[in-house]
Amino acid sequence: MNFELKPLGLLACANEKCDALIVLVPQAFKASKDDLSQLIAQAIKASDFETKPGKTLSLYRPLQANADRVVLAGIGDGSARQVRTAVHAALALVKTPSLKKLVLSFATPAQEGSVRAAVSASADASYVYVTTRSKPEPRVLQKVLIACENASEVKSSFDRGVATVIGVELAKEWANRPANYATPTLLAKAAQELAAFPKFSCEVLGPKEVAKLGMGAFIGVAQGSEQPLQFIVLRYDGAVKTKAPTVLVGKGITFDSGGISLKPGAEMDEMKYDMGGAASVIGAFRAIAHLKPAINLVGLIAACENMPSGRALKPSDVVTSMSGQTIEILNTDAEGRLVLCDALTYAERFKPAAVVDIATLTGACVVALGGVRSGLFATDEALAQALLAAGDASQDLCWRMPLDDDYADGLKTSFADVANVAGRAGGAVTAAKFLQRFTEKYPWAHLDIAGTAWKGGAAKGATGRPVGLLVEYLMSQAAAK
Ligand code: BES
Ligand code: MN
Ligand code: ZN
Repeated sequence: MNFELKPLGLLACANEKCDALIVLVPQAFKASKDDLSQLIAQAIKASDFETKPGKTLSLYRPLQANADRVVLAGIGDGSARQVRTAVHAALALVKTPSLKKLVLSFATPAQEGSVRAAVSASADASYVYVTTRSKPEPRVLQKVLIACENASEVKSSFDRGVATVIGVELAKEWANRPANYATPTLLAKAAQELAAFPKFSCEVLGPKEVAKLGMGAFIGVAQGSEQPLQFIVLRYDGAVKTKAPTVLVGKGITFDSGGISLKPGAEMDEMKYDMGGAASVIGAFRAIAHLKPAINLVGLIAACENMPSGRALKPSDVVTSMSGQTIEILNTDAEGRLVLCDALTYAERFKPAAVVDIATLTGACVVALGGVRSGLFATDEALAQALLAAGDASQDLCWRMPLDDDYADGLKTSFADVANVAGRAGGAVTAAKFLQRFTEKYPWAHLDIAGTAWKGGAAKGATGRPVGLLVEYLMSQAAAK
Protein backbone atom coordinates (compact mmCIF):
# COMPACT_ATOMS: atom_id res chain seq x y z
CA MET A 1 0.00 0.00 0.00
CA ASN A 2 1.22 3.43 -0.88
CA PHE A 3 0.74 6.54 1.26
CA GLU A 4 1.25 10.10 0.20
CA LEU A 5 0.94 13.39 2.08
CA LYS A 6 0.04 16.56 0.19
CA PRO A 7 -0.67 20.15 1.23
CA LEU A 8 -4.13 20.38 -0.30
CA GLY A 9 -7.16 22.30 0.87
CA LEU A 10 -10.73 21.18 0.25
CA LEU A 11 -10.93 22.92 -3.11
CA ALA A 12 -7.89 21.04 -4.44
CA CYS A 13 -9.11 17.74 -2.93
CA ALA A 14 -12.36 18.05 -4.79
CA ASN A 15 -10.35 18.03 -8.01
CA GLU A 16 -8.41 14.85 -7.17
CA LYS A 17 -9.53 11.88 -9.25
CA CYS A 18 -10.12 8.96 -6.88
CA ASP A 19 -12.55 6.16 -6.05
CA ALA A 20 -13.52 7.74 -2.77
CA LEU A 21 -12.94 10.96 -0.92
CA ILE A 22 -13.39 10.99 2.84
CA VAL A 23 -13.60 14.47 4.30
CA LEU A 24 -12.76 14.60 8.02
CA VAL A 25 -14.80 17.37 9.58
CA PRO A 26 -14.19 18.59 13.15
CA GLN A 27 -16.79 20.31 15.31
CA ALA A 28 -14.74 23.51 14.88
CA PHE A 29 -15.26 23.45 11.09
CA LYS A 30 -15.71 26.84 9.43
CA ALA A 31 -16.74 26.86 5.76
CA SER A 32 -14.66 28.65 3.14
CA LYS A 33 -16.01 29.77 -0.21
CA ASP A 34 -15.34 26.61 -2.22
CA ASP A 35 -18.27 24.40 -3.24
CA LEU A 36 -17.36 21.42 -1.09
CA SER A 37 -17.05 23.58 2.05
CA GLN A 38 -20.40 25.11 1.29
CA LEU A 39 -21.96 21.68 0.83
CA ILE A 40 -20.59 20.56 4.22
CA ALA A 41 -21.89 23.71 5.89
CA GLN A 42 -25.35 23.13 4.40
CA ALA A 43 -25.40 19.51 5.52
CA ILE A 44 -24.49 20.53 9.06
CA LYS A 45 -27.05 23.32 9.08
CA ALA A 46 -29.80 21.00 7.83
CA SER A 47 -28.86 18.44 10.54
CA ASP A 48 -28.18 15.85 7.84
CA PHE A 49 -24.61 15.59 9.10
CA GLU A 50 -23.09 15.81 12.58
CA THR A 51 -19.40 16.29 13.40
CA LYS A 52 -19.40 13.76 16.27
CA PRO A 53 -16.90 10.94 15.69
CA GLY A 54 -18.54 7.94 14.01
CA LYS A 55 -21.20 10.11 12.32
CA THR A 56 -21.07 10.09 8.52
CA LEU A 57 -22.92 11.29 5.46
CA SER A 58 -22.52 9.45 2.14
CA LEU A 59 -22.77 11.34 -1.13
CA TYR A 60 -22.79 9.71 -4.56
CA ARG A 61 -20.89 11.58 -7.27
CA PRO A 62 -21.68 15.04 -5.94
CA LEU A 63 -21.02 17.75 -8.48
CA GLN A 64 -18.59 19.46 -6.14
CA ALA A 65 -16.04 16.65 -6.42
CA ASN A 66 -14.17 14.52 -8.91
CA ALA A 67 -14.52 11.40 -6.71
CA ASP A 68 -17.00 8.58 -7.34
CA ARG A 69 -18.04 8.66 -3.72
CA VAL A 70 -17.69 11.29 -1.06
CA VAL A 71 -18.21 10.59 2.62
CA LEU A 72 -18.26 13.30 5.23
CA ALA A 73 -17.00 11.95 8.54
CA GLY A 74 -17.18 13.76 11.87
CA ILE A 75 -13.96 13.86 13.91
CA GLY A 76 -15.26 15.77 16.95
CA ASP A 77 -12.30 17.46 18.65
CA GLY A 78 -9.94 16.21 15.91
CA SER A 79 -7.91 14.01 18.29
CA ALA A 80 -6.14 10.85 17.13
CA ARG A 81 -8.73 8.61 18.76
CA GLN A 82 -11.66 10.38 17.13
CA VAL A 83 -9.97 10.37 13.73
CA ARG A 84 -9.47 6.61 14.05
CA THR A 85 -13.17 6.12 14.85
CA ALA A 86 -14.14 8.33 11.91
CA VAL A 87 -11.87 6.60 9.36
CA HIS A 88 -13.17 3.18 10.36
CA ALA A 89 -16.80 4.30 10.09
CA ALA A 90 -16.27 6.06 6.75
CA LEU A 91 -14.22 3.25 5.20
CA ALA A 92 -16.93 0.75 6.05
CA LEU A 93 -19.21 2.80 3.77
CA VAL A 94 -16.87 3.05 0.78
CA LYS A 95 -15.14 -0.33 1.01
CA THR A 96 -16.26 -1.64 -2.35
CA PRO A 97 -14.31 -4.08 -4.54
CA SER A 98 -13.33 -1.13 -6.71
CA LEU A 99 -11.82 1.05 -3.99
CA LYS A 100 -8.24 1.39 -5.22
CA LYS A 101 -7.47 5.03 -4.57
CA LEU A 102 -8.65 6.86 -1.49
CA VAL A 103 -8.24 10.49 -0.51
CA LEU A 104 -8.46 11.34 3.18
CA SER A 105 -8.89 15.04 3.51
CA PHE A 106 -8.68 17.07 6.72
CA ALA A 107 -11.19 19.91 6.40
CA THR A 108 -9.17 22.01 8.88
CA PRO A 109 -5.44 21.88 9.79
CA ALA A 110 -4.62 18.44 11.22
CA GLN A 111 -3.19 17.65 14.65
CA GLU A 112 0.08 15.66 14.60
CA GLY A 113 -1.20 12.42 16.09
CA SER A 114 -4.32 12.58 13.95
CA VAL A 115 -2.42 12.24 10.69
CA ARG A 116 -0.73 9.21 12.10
CA ALA A 117 -4.10 7.83 13.21
CA ALA A 118 -5.55 8.38 9.72
CA VAL A 119 -2.66 6.43 8.17
CA SER A 120 -2.95 3.56 10.68
CA ALA A 121 -6.73 3.33 10.55
CA SER A 122 -6.92 3.20 6.75
CA ALA A 123 -4.29 0.44 6.71
CA ASP A 124 -6.04 -1.46 9.49
CA ALA A 125 -9.45 -1.31 7.85
CA SER A 126 -8.16 -2.60 4.52
CA TYR A 127 -5.74 -5.30 5.73
CA VAL A 128 -6.35 -8.86 4.55
CA TYR A 129 -4.47 -12.04 5.41
CA VAL A 130 -3.91 -14.23 2.32
CA THR A 131 -0.84 -16.43 2.87
CA THR A 132 -2.59 -19.77 3.36
CA ARG A 133 -5.58 -19.26 1.03
CA SER A 134 -5.53 -21.29 -2.19
CA LYS A 135 -7.23 -18.47 -4.13
CA PRO A 136 -6.02 -15.35 -2.41
CA GLU A 137 -8.05 -12.19 -2.75
CA PRO A 138 -5.47 -9.57 -1.89
CA ARG A 139 -6.19 -6.11 -0.56
CA VAL A 140 -7.71 -3.84 -3.21
CA LEU A 141 -6.87 -0.44 -1.72
CA GLN A 142 -3.54 0.57 -3.24
CA LYS A 143 -3.15 4.25 -2.68
CA VAL A 144 -4.09 6.58 0.16
CA LEU A 145 -3.56 10.29 -0.22
CA ILE A 146 -3.64 12.23 3.03
CA ALA A 147 -4.49 15.82 2.30
CA CYS A 148 -4.25 18.69 4.74
CA GLU A 149 -3.31 22.32 4.45
CA ASN A 150 -0.59 22.06 7.09
CA ALA A 151 1.12 19.02 5.52
CA SER A 152 4.64 20.28 6.20
CA GLU A 153 3.92 20.61 9.95
CA VAL A 154 2.73 17.02 10.26
CA LYS A 155 5.31 15.37 7.96
CA SER A 156 7.26 13.60 10.72
CA SER A 157 4.06 12.27 12.27
CA PHE A 158 3.02 11.02 8.82
CA ASP A 159 6.40 9.29 8.30
CA ARG A 160 6.09 7.60 11.68
CA GLY A 161 2.60 6.47 10.76
CA VAL A 162 3.75 4.97 7.47
CA ALA A 163 6.69 3.20 9.14
CA THR A 164 4.37 1.88 11.84
CA VAL A 165 1.98 0.49 9.23
CA ILE A 166 4.84 -1.36 7.53
CA GLY A 167 5.95 -2.80 10.88
CA VAL A 168 2.43 -3.60 12.06
CA GLU A 169 1.64 -5.46 8.84
CA LEU A 170 4.79 -7.59 9.09
CA ALA A 171 3.90 -8.38 12.72
CA LYS A 172 0.31 -9.25 11.72
CA GLU A 173 1.52 -11.50 8.92
CA TRP A 174 3.72 -13.60 11.21
CA ALA A 175 1.28 -13.68 14.09
CA ASN A 176 -1.62 -14.69 11.82
CA ARG A 177 0.25 -17.52 10.15
CA PRO A 178 -0.80 -20.96 11.35
CA ALA A 179 1.72 -22.65 13.61
CA ASN A 180 2.85 -25.01 10.82
CA TYR A 181 3.63 -21.99 8.62
CA ALA A 182 5.36 -20.09 11.43
CA THR A 183 7.69 -22.59 13.08
CA PRO A 184 10.68 -21.33 15.09
CA THR A 185 12.87 -21.99 12.05
CA LEU A 186 10.60 -20.00 9.70
CA LEU A 187 10.40 -17.16 12.22
CA ALA A 188 14.19 -17.08 12.36
CA LYS A 189 14.30 -16.88 8.55
CA ALA A 190 11.93 -13.91 8.63
CA ALA A 191 14.24 -12.16 11.11
CA GLN A 192 17.27 -12.98 8.98
CA GLU A 193 15.68 -11.29 5.99
CA LEU A 194 15.77 -8.01 7.91
CA ALA A 195 19.58 -8.20 7.92
CA ALA A 196 19.46 -7.04 4.28
CA PHE A 197 18.72 -3.48 5.46
CA PRO A 198 21.69 -1.17 6.00
CA LYS A 199 23.14 -1.30 9.56
CA PHE A 200 21.07 -4.41 10.36
CA SER A 201 22.43 -7.82 11.29
CA CYS A 202 20.94 -11.07 12.52
CA GLU A 203 22.42 -14.10 14.21
CA VAL A 204 20.43 -17.25 14.95
CA LEU A 205 21.51 -19.70 17.64
CA GLY A 206 20.24 -23.30 17.46
CA PRO A 207 19.87 -25.98 20.17
CA LYS A 208 23.61 -26.68 20.44
CA GLU A 209 24.65 -23.05 20.95
CA VAL A 210 21.79 -22.45 23.36
CA ALA A 211 22.83 -25.51 25.39
CA LYS A 212 26.37 -24.13 25.56
CA LEU A 213 25.00 -20.87 26.97
CA GLY A 214 23.26 -22.89 29.70
CA MET A 215 19.73 -21.75 28.88
CA GLY A 216 18.16 -24.66 30.79
CA ALA A 217 14.75 -23.05 31.19
CA PHE A 218 14.35 -22.26 27.47
CA ILE A 219 15.63 -25.73 26.52
CA GLY A 220 13.20 -27.31 28.97
CA VAL A 221 10.19 -25.75 27.24
CA ALA A 222 11.43 -26.69 23.76
CA GLN A 223 12.28 -30.30 24.57
CA GLY A 224 8.74 -31.63 24.11
CA SER A 225 8.62 -30.52 20.48
CA GLU A 226 9.92 -31.99 17.22
CA GLN A 227 10.75 -28.45 16.08
CA PRO A 228 14.20 -27.23 17.11
CA LEU A 229 14.28 -24.06 19.20
CA GLN A 230 15.80 -20.89 17.72
CA PHE A 231 17.33 -18.00 19.62
CA ILE A 232 17.29 -14.94 17.37
CA VAL A 233 19.61 -11.96 17.89
CA LEU A 234 18.72 -8.96 15.73
CA ARG A 235 20.77 -5.77 15.71
CA TYR A 236 20.40 -2.30 14.34
CA ASP A 237 23.49 -0.10 14.82
CA GLY A 238 22.26 3.37 13.94
CA ALA A 239 24.35 5.32 16.49
CA VAL A 240 27.95 5.46 17.67
CA LYS A 241 29.26 2.28 19.30
CA THR A 242 29.57 3.96 22.70
CA LYS A 243 25.81 4.54 22.90
CA ALA A 244 24.18 1.87 25.09
CA PRO A 245 21.51 -0.04 23.15
CA THR A 246 17.87 -0.59 23.93
CA VAL A 247 17.05 -4.30 23.98
CA LEU A 248 13.64 -5.65 22.96
CA VAL A 249 12.92 -9.22 24.06
CA GLY A 250 10.05 -11.12 22.42
CA LYS A 251 8.24 -14.25 23.61
CA GLY A 252 8.24 -16.49 20.56
CA ILE A 253 6.12 -19.53 21.46
CA THR A 254 4.98 -20.48 17.96
CA PHE A 255 2.36 -22.77 19.47
CA ASP A 256 1.38 -23.10 23.13
CA SER A 257 -0.51 -26.33 23.74
CA GLY A 258 0.23 -25.99 27.45
CA GLY A 259 2.58 -28.99 27.30
CA ILE A 260 1.86 -31.79 29.82
CA SER A 261 -0.36 -29.29 31.67
CA LEU A 262 -2.42 -29.40 28.46
CA LYS A 263 -4.82 -26.58 27.69
CA PRO A 264 -8.52 -27.30 27.05
CA GLY A 265 -9.43 -27.72 23.37
CA ALA A 266 -11.74 -24.73 22.96
CA GLU A 267 -9.94 -21.87 21.24
CA MET A 268 -6.60 -23.62 21.49
CA ASP A 269 -5.99 -22.60 17.86
CA GLU A 270 -5.49 -19.06 19.14
CA MET A 271 -2.29 -20.19 20.79
CA LYS A 272 -0.62 -19.79 17.39
CA TYR A 273 -0.60 -16.12 18.49
CA ASP A 274 1.68 -16.91 21.41
CA MET A 275 4.59 -15.53 19.39
CA GLY A 276 2.90 -12.12 19.23
CA GLY A 277 5.70 -10.57 21.30
CA ALA A 278 8.30 -11.92 18.87
CA ALA A 279 6.24 -10.67 15.92
CA SER A 280 6.13 -7.19 17.46
CA VAL A 281 9.93 -7.16 17.81
CA ILE A 282 10.30 -8.11 14.14
CA GLY A 283 7.70 -5.48 13.21
CA ALA A 284 9.42 -2.77 15.26
CA PHE A 285 12.75 -3.56 13.56
CA ARG A 286 11.07 -3.32 10.17
CA ALA A 287 9.66 0.10 11.06
CA ILE A 288 13.08 1.24 12.30
CA ALA A 289 14.56 0.18 8.94
CA HIS A 290 12.20 2.71 7.38
CA LEU A 291 12.87 5.55 9.84
CA LYS A 292 16.63 4.99 10.39
CA PRO A 293 16.92 6.83 13.73
CA ALA A 294 20.29 7.36 15.47
CA ILE A 295 19.87 4.62 18.06
CA ASN A 296 21.37 1.23 18.80
CA LEU A 297 18.82 -1.52 19.09
CA VAL A 298 19.02 -5.22 19.91
CA GLY A 299 16.16 -7.66 19.43
CA LEU A 300 16.16 -11.02 21.21
CA ILE A 301 13.60 -13.67 20.37
CA ALA A 302 13.31 -16.99 22.17
CA ALA A 303 11.34 -19.14 19.71
CA CYS A 304 10.05 -22.66 20.28
CA GLU A 305 6.87 -24.70 20.59
CA ASN A 306 5.35 -25.80 23.90
CA MET A 307 4.19 -29.39 23.28
CA PRO A 308 3.42 -32.51 25.29
CA SER A 309 5.50 -35.61 24.57
CA GLY A 310 7.53 -38.32 26.28
CA ARG A 311 10.41 -35.89 26.40
CA ALA A 312 8.43 -32.87 27.56
CA LEU A 313 8.89 -31.10 30.89
CA LYS A 314 6.75 -32.53 33.69
CA PRO A 315 5.28 -30.76 36.69
CA SER A 316 7.86 -31.21 39.50
CA ASP A 317 10.86 -31.06 37.13
CA VAL A 318 13.56 -28.61 38.15
CA VAL A 319 15.52 -26.75 35.47
CA THR A 320 18.60 -24.55 35.83
CA SER A 321 18.35 -21.19 34.08
CA MET A 322 21.24 -19.37 32.40
CA SER A 323 21.41 -17.10 35.48
CA GLY A 324 22.16 -20.14 37.65
CA GLN A 325 18.82 -19.89 39.48
CA THR A 326 16.95 -23.19 39.65
CA ILE A 327 13.23 -23.26 38.78
CA GLU A 328 10.64 -25.81 39.84
CA ILE A 329 8.09 -26.41 37.10
CA LEU A 330 4.68 -26.65 38.74
CA ASN A 331 2.72 -25.98 35.57
CA THR A 332 4.19 -26.54 32.10
CA ASP A 333 1.68 -24.04 30.70
CA ALA A 334 3.57 -21.20 32.41
CA GLU A 335 6.25 -21.55 29.71
CA GLY A 336 6.54 -17.95 28.54
CA ARG A 337 8.41 -16.83 31.66
CA LEU A 338 10.77 -19.80 31.26
CA VAL A 339 11.90 -18.86 27.75
CA LEU A 340 11.99 -15.16 28.64
CA CYS A 341 14.11 -15.52 31.78
CA ASP A 342 17.04 -16.93 29.80
CA ALA A 343 16.68 -14.25 27.11
CA LEU A 344 16.67 -11.59 29.86
CA THR A 345 19.91 -12.99 31.28
CA TYR A 346 21.43 -13.03 27.79
CA ALA A 347 20.48 -9.33 27.44
CA GLU A 348 23.02 -8.42 30.18
CA ARG A 349 25.94 -8.76 27.76
CA PHE A 350 24.79 -5.71 25.81
CA LYS A 351 25.05 -3.42 28.89
CA PRO A 352 21.69 -2.02 27.81
CA ALA A 353 20.27 1.43 28.52
CA ALA A 354 16.93 -0.35 28.93
CA VAL A 355 15.37 -3.76 28.29
CA VAL A 356 11.71 -4.09 27.31
CA ASP A 357 10.21 -7.56 26.99
CA ILE A 358 6.97 -8.12 25.11
CA ALA A 359 4.93 -11.24 25.77
CA THR A 360 1.48 -12.80 25.48
CA LEU A 361 2.21 -13.90 29.01
CA THR A 362 -0.94 -14.42 31.08
CA GLY A 363 -4.65 -15.03 30.75
CA ALA A 364 -4.87 -13.06 34.01
CA CYS A 365 -3.79 -9.90 32.16
CA VAL A 366 -6.69 -10.40 29.75
CA VAL A 367 -9.02 -10.56 32.74
CA ALA A 368 -7.46 -7.45 34.28
CA LEU A 369 -7.27 -5.12 31.27
CA GLY A 370 -9.19 -6.76 28.41
CA GLY A 371 -8.23 -5.85 24.86
CA VAL A 372 -7.86 -2.09 25.29
CA ARG A 373 -4.59 -1.62 27.16
CA SER A 374 -1.52 -3.82 27.45
CA GLY A 375 -0.14 -4.41 30.96
CA LEU A 376 3.02 -2.43 31.73
CA PHE A 377 5.37 -3.42 34.53
CA ALA A 378 8.58 -1.49 35.12
CA THR A 379 11.40 -1.24 37.64
CA ASP A 380 12.49 2.13 36.31
CA GLU A 381 10.35 5.25 36.66
CA ALA A 382 11.68 7.12 33.61
CA LEU A 383 11.28 4.03 31.43
CA ALA A 384 7.71 3.52 32.65
CA GLN A 385 6.79 7.14 31.92
CA ALA A 386 8.39 7.00 28.46
CA LEU A 387 6.45 3.85 27.55
CA LEU A 388 3.15 5.22 28.87
CA ALA A 389 3.67 8.41 26.85
CA ALA A 390 4.59 6.42 23.74
CA GLY A 391 1.38 4.43 24.15
CA ASP A 392 -0.69 7.61 24.35
CA ALA A 393 1.03 9.23 21.37
CA SER A 394 0.54 6.18 19.16
CA GLN A 395 -2.89 5.27 20.54
CA ASP A 396 -1.40 1.86 21.33
CA LEU A 397 -2.25 2.12 25.01
CA CYS A 398 -0.82 0.45 28.09
CA TRP A 399 -1.51 0.67 31.81
CA ARG A 400 0.99 0.54 34.69
CA MET A 401 0.69 -2.49 36.96
CA PRO A 402 2.31 -3.01 40.38
CA LEU A 403 5.48 -4.91 41.30
CA ASP A 404 5.28 -5.02 45.13
CA ASP A 405 7.56 -7.71 46.52
CA ASP A 406 4.68 -9.26 48.45
CA TYR A 407 3.31 -10.49 45.12
CA ALA A 408 6.33 -12.82 44.85
CA ASP A 409 5.48 -14.78 48.01
CA GLY A 410 3.55 -17.43 46.13
CA LEU A 411 6.59 -18.28 43.99
CA LYS A 412 8.45 -19.74 47.01
CA THR A 413 9.18 -23.47 47.00
CA SER A 414 11.31 -25.92 48.99
CA PHE A 415 12.59 -27.68 45.88
CA ALA A 416 14.26 -24.90 43.87
CA ASP A 417 15.16 -21.22 44.08
CA VAL A 418 11.77 -20.28 42.64
CA ALA A 419 8.60 -21.95 41.32
CA ASN A 420 7.27 -21.08 37.87
CA VAL A 421 3.72 -20.37 39.10
CA ALA A 422 2.00 -18.95 42.17
CA GLY A 423 -1.74 -19.17 42.91
CA ARG A 424 -4.46 -17.92 40.59
CA ALA A 425 -4.77 -14.50 42.24
CA GLY A 426 -2.88 -11.64 40.61
CA GLY A 427 -1.50 -13.93 37.91
CA ALA A 428 -0.23 -11.16 35.63
CA VAL A 429 1.73 -9.64 38.51
CA THR A 430 3.21 -12.88 39.84
CA ALA A 431 4.42 -13.68 36.30
CA ALA A 432 6.10 -10.26 36.16
CA LYS A 433 7.64 -10.85 39.61
CA PHE A 434 9.12 -14.10 38.29
CA LEU A 435 10.71 -12.24 35.36
CA GLN A 436 11.99 -9.44 37.59
CA ARG A 437 14.39 -11.87 39.30
CA PHE A 438 16.36 -12.00 36.04
CA THR A 439 16.56 -8.25 35.35
CA GLU A 440 18.67 -6.82 38.16
CA LYS A 441 21.46 -5.52 35.92
CA TYR A 442 19.49 -2.93 33.89
CA PRO A 443 16.36 -0.75 33.79
CA TRP A 444 13.58 -3.12 32.78
CA ALA A 445 9.99 -3.02 31.58
CA HIS A 446 7.61 -5.82 30.67
CA LEU A 447 4.58 -5.51 28.40
CA ASP A 448 1.96 -8.24 28.86
CA ILE A 449 0.11 -8.18 25.53
CA ALA A 450 -2.05 -11.29 26.08
CA GLY A 451 -5.21 -9.21 25.66
CA THR A 452 -4.04 -6.86 22.92
CA ALA A 453 -1.95 -8.87 20.43
CA TRP A 454 -4.93 -10.38 18.66
CA LYS A 455 -8.70 -10.32 18.49
CA GLY A 456 -10.75 -13.49 18.86
CA GLY A 457 -14.26 -14.26 17.67
CA ALA A 458 -15.68 -13.43 14.24
CA ALA A 459 -13.00 -10.81 13.46
CA LYS A 460 -10.20 -13.13 14.56
CA GLY A 461 -6.81 -11.73 13.66
CA ALA A 462 -3.56 -10.23 14.86
CA THR A 463 -3.56 -6.52 15.74
CA GLY A 464 0.14 -5.84 15.24
CA ARG A 465 0.25 -4.32 18.71
CA PRO A 466 2.39 -3.04 20.36
CA VAL A 467 4.51 -2.11 17.31
CA GLY A 468 3.06 1.42 17.36
CA LEU A 469 4.01 1.92 21.00
CA LEU A 470 7.52 0.50 20.48
CA VAL A 471 8.22 2.65 17.41
CA GLU A 472 7.08 5.77 19.24
CA TYR A 473 9.22 4.88 22.27
CA LEU A 474 12.33 4.20 20.16
CA MET A 475 11.88 7.45 18.22
CA SER A 476 11.53 9.37 21.48
CA GLN A 477 14.84 7.83 22.61
CA ALA A 478 16.48 8.99 19.38
CA ALA A 479 15.20 12.52 20.00
CA ALA A 480 16.32 12.51 23.66
CA LYS A 481 19.93 11.65 22.67
N1 BES B 1 0.23 -18.01 26.41
C1 BES B 1 -0.43 -18.17 27.65
C2 BES B 1 -1.14 -16.92 28.12
C3 BES B 1 -2.42 -16.58 27.42
C4 BES B 1 -3.59 -17.26 27.70
C5 BES B 1 -2.46 -15.55 26.53
C6 BES B 1 -4.77 -16.90 27.07
C7 BES B 1 -3.66 -15.18 25.92
C8 BES B 1 -4.80 -15.87 26.19
C9 BES B 1 0.57 -18.54 28.75
O1 BES B 1 1.64 -19.32 28.32
C10 BES B 1 -0.17 -19.33 29.75
O2 BES B 1 -0.62 -20.39 29.43
N2 BES B 1 -0.29 -18.79 30.96
C11 BES B 1 -0.99 -19.42 31.99
C12 BES B 1 -0.22 -19.25 33.27
C13 BES B 1 -0.75 -20.08 34.40
C14 BES B 1 -0.49 -21.54 34.14
C15 BES B 1 -0.05 -19.64 35.66
C16 BES B 1 -2.37 -18.75 32.10
O3 BES B 1 -2.45 -17.53 31.94
O4 BES B 1 -3.33 -19.46 32.29
MN1 MN C 1 1.19 -21.38 28.32
ZN1 ZN D 1 2.17 -19.11 26.35
